[in-house]
Amino acid sequence: MASIDFHKLRVAEVKRETPDAVSVRFDLPEHLRETFTFKAGQHLTFRREIGGEEVRRNYSVCVSPNEGVLKIGVKKIAGGAFSSWVNDELEAGDELDVIAPHGSFCWNFDADARREYVAFAGGSGITPILSLMKTALAMEPRSRFTLFYGNRTSMGVMFLEEIAALKDRYLDRLALFHFLEDEEEEIDLFNGRLDRDKVEHVLTALVKPEHVDAFFICGPGPMMDAAEAALLAKNVEKSRILIERFTTGPLSAAQAAAARALEEKAAGLKMSVTLNGRRMNVTFDPDKHSILDNVRAAGLPAPFACKGGVCATCRAKVTAGEVSMKVNYGLSEQELADGYVLTCQATPVTEGVALTYDA
Ligand code: FES
Repeated sequence: MASIDFHKLRVAEVKRETPDAVSVRFDLPEHLRETFTFKAGQHLTFRREIGGEEVRRNYSVCVSPNEGVLKIGVKKIAGGAFSSWVNDELEAGDELDVIAPHGSFCWNFDADARREYVAFAGGSGITPILSLMKTALAMEPRSRFTLFYGNRTSMGVMFLEEIAALKDRYLDRLALFHFLEDEEEEIDLFNGRLDRDKVEHVLTALVKPEHVDAFFICGPGPMMDAAEAALLAKNVEKSRILIERFTTGPLSAAQAAAARALEEKAAGLKMSVTLNGRRMNVTFDPDKHSILDNVRAAGLPAPFACKGGVCATCRAKVTAGEVSMKVNYGLSEQELADGYVLTCQATPVTEGVALTYDA
């Protein structure tokens, strides 16, 4: 896990990408260069006090590690206090509190490999995919990348010029298909949103799924669900489908009731928690809902961002006992097998749970 301390980073440039999205480039002082080394597809966690409350948000890097810069993309979302502030007020010279890059929406690129990659991106979901795409094309000179990118209008397409320039540069290795919801193109396939029908059409007409090494998916929830379902229906193994989620919908009433029952049953269970080499005993209080909030209330500054089970910032390893998670969109099968849990989603099931944030 990356270092979970916050560092101050100075904004070098805020660039308007679309009417409601900017990219933010940071100055990286020499002493933080190693800490902020990142893999393509990872994200940064930011914090800021808004309206008397500490708000944390994750934003993906939109550059490749070999570009030598650190840059994120931020789209303004309706009612989004943090994204609105970044879009409307942030300027060069401002400082932000940032946790070093982390996240597992990554791939092991290999200069000798000859691979096929396909990505489905929607809206600002292009941000980590742009990072992966640039890295694949630059690091693997024999690999090919196909991008299916959905937006409402052409005005709202983030990184439009940069992607077009990549197409010019990698003419025979990058294939690019834009889908616009609110604008009419000549070819019907490219009109409308990237829903299940459209993804199925694409997987029949434009891609041979069996020849693709990895599918990358990031965008609005329904688009990601549609793309994943279409791929699974084509018998693509889960190990070849990489998905990055930033938000999730609420639990169903039945799921919420089951989660609450589990929390109440866990009342009073003792846990041993390690963070930054410090170990503490914590007693589970169901009114604090999660292991994460219990640990923080006990005085250990456990890391978090989304609190929704998607970003994995709150990841810890269970070394004894058993815990249950409400949802998990942030951990891979391998991480689960290795004993990692998302503590913002976790409730102890047995007495004597031991977990560490340091693993
Ligand atoms: S804080 Fe994001 S998954 Fe727990």
